[in-house]
Amino acid sequence: MPWTTGNSLEKVFGVKKTKLIAESHTAAVDFIEQTVLNLKIDCDFERVPGYLFLHPSDNHDSLTKELAAAKNAGLDVQQMPSLPGTKEQVPSLKFGGQAQFHPLKYIKALCDAILNMGGHIYTNTHADKIDHEGIVTDKGFKVEAKHIVVATNSPVNNKFAIHLKQYPYRTYVIGAKIKKGSLPRALWWDTGDFSKNKEIAPYHYVRTQPHDDTHDLLIIGGEDHPTGIAEEAKVNEEDRYALLEYWAKKYFPIEDVIYSWSGQVLEPMDSIAYIGRNPSDKKNVYVATGDSGNGMTHGTISGMLITDLINEKQNPWQKLYNPSRFKIFAAGKTFFKELAGGALGYLKNKSHDSKPVEVGQILANEGKIIEVEGEKFAAYRDEHGELHIIGAECTHLGCIIKWNNDEKSWDCPCHGSRFTHEGKVLNGPANKDLEYFFKDE
Ligand code: FES
Repeated sequence: MPWTTGNSLEKVFGVKKTKLIAESHTAAVDFIEQTVLNLKIDCDFERVPGYLFLHPSDNHDSLTKELAAAKNAGLDVQQMPSLPGTKEQVPSLKFGGQAQFHPLKYIKALCDAILNMGGHIYTNTHADKIDHEGIVTDKGFKVEAKHIVVATNSPVNNKFAIHLKQYPYRTYVIGAKIKKGSLPRALWWDTGDFSKNKEIAPYHYVRTQPHDDTHDLLIIGGEDHPTGIAEEAKVNEEDRYALLEYWAKKYFPIEDVIYSWSGQVLEPMDSIAYIGRNPSDKKNVYVATGDSGNGMTHGTISGMLITDLINEKQNPWQKLYNPSRFKIFAAGKTFFKELAGGALGYLKNKSHDSKPVEVGQILANEGKIIEVEGEKFAAYRDEHGELHIIGAECTHLGCIIKWNNDEKSWDCPCHGSRFTHEGKVLNGPANKDLEYFFKDE
């Protein structure tokens, strides 16, 4: 996934709307800070500077253009001759007014506040049917509602409207120990590795997090790739953490890597989230999706904007984030290059890529596509040697799923649905499980 440049936003939205986008994110950071203060939330919130630095494969012009765009957007930005906190002497831009916090501690406190105010939160409940009247769970319970907000990473309540306008990526993160005080408190991100992909350069993002008395954590992310298509870049999912560690060691004084995880990011065709009324639906159904790696601020903007829509209050960001917008001509080049190189390329080569193998060829901890009487199935042999067979056609629109050996999941390269080895849906847009045909015991 490329990082969203102010310069590219200016090309798509113009200077005035880019300023509005910047203002919405600034307002979201202020909202979080104010909420932390009001509710006295202990979530390590702190204001820190952010440093954008030049990747060696990129041209110095990138920073110059970004500086101009950031100034046009009214952001607090200045050029730096070097990169504070790192071993390398690379030019950078310093952004003031940024912040970091522990999102799970923050969310926990928000949940407590909702419960204290008489709200109810239900988890582990599958909404099977979602429409303007409410939801019906997979157990048949009906919940009626005046307003329905679908904030499920990828919306599970529509088949097409949103999913043809955004693209799913896997992103990888490691947490490495650093000696306390060895780095300033800050955020860092680079302009992207153009040697890997000159159109859509994947970038790295870095921040600190308090850990114990002697060490902090440095959280380092990146090495993204379109979901289900890791092997296009000849690096499988499970090998991406080592690349992150290798990259981080060049810049930062990291010690042991003690955490690693991956996540899914949805990249909208014009780089800003889809927040508002669900396209082609009744007025009381809303979606929030397409976070583009800015989930903390886009999530907060969603809360602020959808609250105003429900209360029929004017909001300056309503048109900007409207999920029905379609900026094909302005934003199409990068998006469609990725789509053509990714899902469409995959579909074109589908029969070759998913060439079935014999069940006997599948080793422990491996997942492969097999074929029985002309029909494709997804087969996974677990660490005990037991075979699990599920349907291979994604329940969203029927693409053939691919094995992700890092997460031990079946991922769909078309719009990012993910399933367990028993076919349970993990991630939309699919909202139905795959059929679980067989467990070899
Ligand atoms: S996610 Fe759309 S076909 Fe699989």
